[in-house]
Amino acid sequence: MPASKEELRREILRLKKEKNALIMAHYYQIDEIQEIADYIGDSLALAREAAKTDAPMIVMCGVHFMGETAKILCPDKKVLIPDEKAGCSLADSCDPAEFEKFTREHPDHTVISYVNTSAAVKAVTDIVVTSGNARKIVDSLPKDEKIIFGPDKNLGGYINSVTGRDMLLWNGACHVHDRFSLEKITKLKEANPGAKILVHPECRRPLQLIADKVGSTAALLDYARNSEAKDFIVVTESGILFEMRRKCPEKNFIAAPAEDSECQCNHCEYMKMNTLEKLYRCLRDEKPEITVDPEIAARAIKPIERMLELS
Ligand code: 13P
Ligand code: SF4
Repeated sequence: MPASKEELRREILRLKKEKNALIMAHYYQIDEIQEIADYIGDSLALAREAAKTDAPMIVMCGVHFMGETAKILCPDKKVLIPDEKAGCSLADSCDPAEFEKFTREHPDHTVISYVNTSAAVKAVTDIVVTSGNARKIVDSLPKDEKIIFGPDKNLGGYINSVTGRDMLLWNGACHVHDRFSLEKITKLKEANPGAKILVHPECRRPLQLIADKVGSTAALLDYARNSEAKDFIVVTESGILFEMRRKCPEKNFIAAPAEDSECQCNHCEYMKMNTLEKLYRCLRDEKPEITVDPEIAARAIKPIERMLELS
């Protein structure tokens, strides 16, 4: 193992070149990984980029479902993840057998699943969405179409509110976004009255209601870049602050705290499992590798492709 961070970075870049690998990272990754990645994005951008890359090897610095989505889209490529235990509480809140039972109970409903799901859930889905395209995709369906939306009840509730739909919601949530404190964020706003409040739609309804902008990580970043405001209260996982500060060094980004924590921000411990050391080992040893059962992948690719067509 290289001794210093500088050597680690050099070795990662050398291995990446030698193996013609593409390093992709989600905005919630630690700063050092975002710095070294070839491509940083939200879930939608990562799926799009995976679908079009020529690189024979993809290292997905994110959580497991992001690696699975890349593998389903690129079955002939080697898809690696620095830490295979990097899961997602939201994906875990949707057991595939239970979800399939729910869909069978409503056979006249179109099944929409958030990308934060396992491949097995995607396999019983009609259309996959991300927070970046959910509204557009739901709006593209006939007004009287009956829809099941899973697994995130907060995102589903938000899409119901902006589209005027009455989708049936699965009762799932993300443990990070579901625990932001309305009280602490209201106090932050009182102390910074000019600040715009940026909220990810996985947060609860009261937070969506006080937001100046509700959107995916990429949409929140775009809003901050284009806004004339100087201060922003950022109500999503704190990793996004790195790219916000990099893109807008003259602006002030304030992390929003969770209700049950002493800390002034809110971390996803799964996203933070990936480190530079693990990224180095992963490129060196070409493992952990993401695999998806071919029969499940053959079914799961259809709703993902449908998403890419519609968004
Ligand atoms: P985005 O698609 O907005 O990047 O969100 C992914 C995610 O895991 C949010 O918790
Ligand atoms: Fe999953 Fe929540 Fe972490 Fe996003 S922040 S990866 S939804 S646990």
